[in-house]
Order: sequence, then C-alpha cells, then structure tokens
Amino acid sequence: MSVITTIEDLRVLAQKRVPRMFYDYADSGSWTESTYRANETDFQKIKFRQRVAVNLEGRTTRSQMVGQNVAMPVAIAPTGLTGMQHANGEILAARAANEFGVPFTLSTMSICSIEAVSEGTQGRPFWFQLYVMKDRAFIESLIDRAKAANCSALVLTLDLQILGQRHKDLKNGLSAPPKLTITNIINMMTKPRWCLGMLGTKHREFGNIVGHVKGVDDMSSLSDWTAKQFDPALNWDDVEWVKKKWGGKLILKGIQDIEDAKLAVNSGADAIIVSNHGGRQLDGAESSIESLPRIVDAVGSQIEVHMDGGIRSGQDVLKAIALGAKGTYIGRSFLYGLGAMGQAGVSKALQLIHNELDLTMAFCGKTSIDQVNTSILLPGTFPK
Ligand code: GLV
Repeated sequence: MSVITTIEDLRVLAQKRVPRMFYDYADSGSWTESTYRANETDFQKIKFRQRVAVNLEGRTTRSQMVGQNVAMPVAIAPTGLTGMQHANGEILAARAANEFGVPFTLSTMSICSIEAVSEGTQGRPFWFQLYVMKDRAFIESLIDRAKAANCSALVLTLDLQILGQRHKDLKNGLSAPPKLTITNIINMMTKPRWCLGMLGTKHREFGNIVGHVKGVDDMSSLSDWTAKQFDPALNWDDVEWVKKKWGGKLILKGIQDIEDAKLAVNSGADAIIVSNHGGRQLDGAESSIESLPRIVDAVGSQIEVHMDGGIRSGQDVLKAIALGAKGTYIGRSFLYGLGAMGQAGVSKALQLIHNELDLTMAFCGKTSIDQVNTSILLPGTFPK
C-alpha cells in the first residue's frame, strides 16, 4: 500500500484484511442504506468560507466534552464487535485514543470486556455505552462494572431496542466468533493476518455478556441477542432509573427529533448525541448533519449537543462544530483504521482527522474551536 492519506485509504485496506462478514457489518446500513449514504453525502453540500491574512500562529484544536479535556472534539464511538475487526480491537483502539487524548467509548456488545479494556489500558478512564435489557439485575451489574473500571461517562443508547434489518449481516450469517462453515473458512484463509491475531487472543466472543448471563440459545448472534434480551419497553422512566444508578456523566445517544431532545433535557442528562445509529436503524431518516442545527436551536442552550454519522474527515468534524455540535464521534473511520493496521491504524485515523481539522480551521481564519460557528460556512450551503 502506498502512503495512507485519507480514511478512504484505510477503508480499502480494511476491506482486504478483515473477513467479509465483519467488514460488511461495519460498512453497511439498514434496508436501502439511503440514510447511511446521506450521512456522508450531506456533509459534502456544505461549503466553507476561505479567509486570508489572519494570524494563524498558536492554533489549537483542544476542547471539552462533558467537562472533560479532549485534544480535539472527537470521541471514538461505541461500535459492536470491534474485537472482530482485529484481535483485541477494543483494547488497541482505547490505547490509541488514550495516546491521542480523546475519549474511547466501549460498546455493551464489545468483544473485549469492560475489565479486559481497563486492564489493557492501565486503568485509564474510558466511556461505556449501555443498552437496556429486560434483565435489570444484569444492567445494574454492567453499571457497577463500568464504575469499577473507572469509566468517566455513560452513553445510553436509545435507538436500538429493536434491530434494523441489514441485508448483508443476514446473508453472511454474522456471528462472533464466526461459524466454521466452508464459505467462512475459505474467506478467512484469504485473511492470514486476521487469523493469526485471532489465534493469539482469548477475546473472541461478546466479553461483557458471555459468562454473565444465562438463557440465551445463541450467544454468538447479535440479532438473536437483541431480539431476546433488549427491552422494547424502554422509556424515559428507565432513563431516569439508569441516571440514578449511574450517578455520573450521562450522554443520551440516538436523538433526532426536537420533541425527544426536549425530553432529554428534562431527563437531566449532561449531553445528547444527534444520531441515526450510522444509518443502521431507521432507513429513510434524515442525515445527522441535517438534523443537527434544528436540535441545537431547540435545546443547545440547555444541554450539550454532540453528533455522529458520516464523519470521514476533519472537515466533517469542523462542519458539525460550526453547526453547533460541542463534540463528534467517529465509528467507521476508526474501525477502518483498526481493520487495516490495528492500533497504528486507529492512531493514523485520529492523526488524519486532526490534521484536516486543524488546517481547515486555519484556512477559515480561526485558531481555536471556540471561535468556530456558522460564520465559517457559506450562506445557503448549510442546513438551518
Ligand atoms: C449495534 O450497535 C449495531 O449497530 O450493529
């Protein structure tokens, strides 16, 4: 591979190195994938205003998310099965995030457990993402485990009590670990690095779950697990219950509607993430960057608004910040780095995004994140 200069380069490399079922799991949306695509393409419509002859010395991308210092307003998003993109994936991504000075968010549906990530990162704080399941005792124990691991924020996902249909996962028979069918074996034989890595780790199943819960027939299937265990009755009373049990910084993920944003404010959460789950849930929903300004307008003075969905460059980050986001999250952008080159690939993804963010901010005549607002965007090209 020649020099890696974009997230797209990492994606191409990841596609070569990661078994098809896991690459496809990351690189897909639900049904027609229209929302998945819109998340990316809607960023491209927004144009910057170039400014010149502004003193650009002493620039910084430093900022804060939920009161915590970040090297740039970009966190690593919670993504399921991360440890299947690369052996020990969650530990490696958390290390890269620590090194860079941005938050790493561990998914409930991770391969490496809360404890394994904590041990693998010398007990440094990370964020934990929670799904609410029917078994409340299990949820309480997950919250306790996150506290014991020094997690410094809880990200409660509200948009995945039922799973959107992703055609490729069904066709590929997605499972962790992969079932040893002829098709899978043939495909894995073309990914020797991945296989070697997997042979060298003990983390190959849903680490937060397996060994902690009884009564699920197929522990390896995300769709089975979701259908049987996730609580479709989740409501705002449960949010209050989680907030009380957790007692720390709480971020609500999956808000796209003004009415829900207002309810989130009433819940007393510290932040919301404007998100359509990377276009993986309600296909046909608006892109995140389109929804963002309306939500910021409605509740931005009362709660910190973050966003995810479609960020493939530091330019995308800057556009989201200009439209009022105090923080952003990258999912696929880091997964491609991880699948391509492990920890070094995640570091590379963070460096690329940081460099693009820093240079673009400078071209727009700004030297710090707190100076960035809609004045850097060309009128008529951005959503309101
Ligand atoms: C789980 O969070 C998924 O989107 O697959």
